[in-house]
Amino acid sequence: MDERIQLLDTDITMLAVDAIVNAANNSLLGGGGVDGAIHRSAGPGLLEECRQLHGCPTGDARITKGYDLPARYVIHSVGPVWQGGRAGEEELLADCYRSCFRLAAEHGLQTLAFPAISTGVYGFPKKKAAAIAVRQTRRALATNSSLERVIFVCFNRETREAYAEALGQRE
Ligand code: APR
Repeated sequence: MDERIQLLDTDITMLAVDAIVNAANNSLLGGGGVDGAIHRSAGPGLLEECRQLHGCPTGDARITKGYDLPARYVIHSVGPVWQGGRAGEEELLADCYRSCFRLAAEHGLQTLAFPAISTGVYGFPKKKAAAIAVRQTRRALATNSSLERVIFVCFNRETREAYAEALGQRE
């Protein structure tokens, strides 16, 4: 396993990294899950900045400051809602990771933390999502020499097992 990839069982809002990724919705105006947690920890300034962005298409990402979070930036990425797998969901989720890594490269970010985008409310199968996340991360690490660490935050056991399997080692 690439030693630059790390699994952490923690709350993503606690991480003092260059950017944490938010599993947002198209409005970028907050929600439940990790989106709710990030907005609660960041404070009202985050929502103010998000309002100026006027939304984000599925598969794309936007970057904002981190406000009261320990992270410098928040990268808001809008994952696909799982609809059974025949509506291009897998490609859209891959697009999310590619969009986040593009922003990280543009801003010269060195450390990044992802939640398991789309695998909560949006119902994306965890193992499929983890395989997509690992594949896109390995590609990004191979091409972006500034990237020093990518953390996959596991908020439940099933997510951790999915990443561990995707990284080629079962728990
Ligand atoms: N830290 C890390 N991971 C978390 C946290 C947290 N504080 N809270 C939840 N998670 C995990 C969930 O357990 C899941 O593994 O983040 C993953 C993504 O789940 P959701 O937050 O439900 O995101 P998603 O499935 O992408 O659905 C997005 O939910 O909250 C709304 O506004 C959001 O409409 C959007 C939708």
